[in-house]
Amino acid sequence: MVFDYVDGGADDEVTMRRNEDAFAAVAFRPKMASGNVEPRLGVTVLGTEIDFPVLLAPCGLVRLLHADGPTGVARAAASRGTVSVLSTVSGSPVEVVAGESKAPLWFQLYSSAGLSEADSLCDRAAAAGVDVLMVTVDTPTLGNRERDVRHGVAPPLRVDAHNAVPLGLQVLARPRWAAQLAATGIRLSRKGAGPVGHGSGLLSSVASPFSWDDLVHVRNRWHGQFVVKGVLSGADARRAVDSGADAVVVSNHGGRQLDGAPATLQTLPGVVAAVGGDVEVLIDGGIRRGSHVVAALALGARAVLIGRPYLFGLASAGEQGVVRILDILRAEMHRTMVLMGCSSVDQLSPDWLEVPRT
Ligand code: GLV
Repeated sequence: MVFDYVDGGADDEVTMRRNEDAFAAVAFRPKMASGNVEPRLGVTVLGTEIDFPVLLAPCGLVRLLHADGPTGVARAAASRGTVSVLSTVSGSPVEVVAGESKAPLWFQLYSSAGLSEADSLCDRAAAAGVDVLMVTVDTPTLGNRERDVRHGVAPPLRVDAHNAVPLGLQVLARPRWAAQLAATGIRLSRKGAGPVGHGSGLLSSVASPFSWDDLVHVRNRWHGQFVVKGVLSGADARRAVDSGADAVVVSNHGGRQLDGAPATLQTLPGVVAAVGGDVEVLIDGGIRRGSHVVAALALGARAVLIGRPYLFGLASAGEQGVVRILDILRAEMHRTMVLMGCSSVDQLSPDWLEVPRT
């Protein structure tokens, strides 16, 4: 059930596949014999210098994947010169992750209970030392993740006669995982705050029907940098900027929300054309290789966020697994840049690509 929660998407998973297919459809236009074998990969994102343009996306229930949890993720990111974004529903409170990891941390905001809850989460994140807030706008209700529904773990969570035995067997089949989680305290925290009253709490609290007026409210409450995540058009990106965003993330939530939404890579150029002159544009969805990072930057992204890849690393080997994923992506990106004959990420532009215009 944990694997399917991470691996799965909404409905028929069309959008999830589209994200990956869009990267597969990219063709590079390399320049041979450049003589350069040490390309520059570092960028600045919202004033933070990162060693290479890959951030760790906010993800729900990270706490369930491995005992290292969101603290291990934040430490792994810091050890590789980048940043992780803590989800409101990671399962660990922002104060705990900031305190334990001692790493720079960004915070992603959901608020199903309205603006007073959003205010209090903002204040807590600020007090914990977070300086970048990311608000997700593509989740007015939770997507229909049928793999979770089949396991009986989609909200409202019900453990009943139909699923108690299969769920129990899944836990028993992973004794080390179950024991480690139990040893570190299995209770997940709701809204990054107190413990869950009953099992349905954490993911139900994802649904956040923010309006643009709400975003202006949150922007005014928050004193640091403000990012709007989940735009798929130039028009929405413009509204985000008009609402005070310092950056936008082109995202369809990894295909976990509106199935049928377009691939993020395909909508990136339109968003860059609309707001790229005013704010930084980030992208997530379908990034599985260093070459995908290069393609996204060539189409105007400042940096990318990855989700599933680092979650698999975390589930496999904890903090060190996340480090390993970052090392793999970095090495792939470096090699791609060398093979393309590109000396620096600053040099990337659409001229380096032959993109099928669909
Ligand atoms: C939470 O945001 C999720 O996609 O499960």
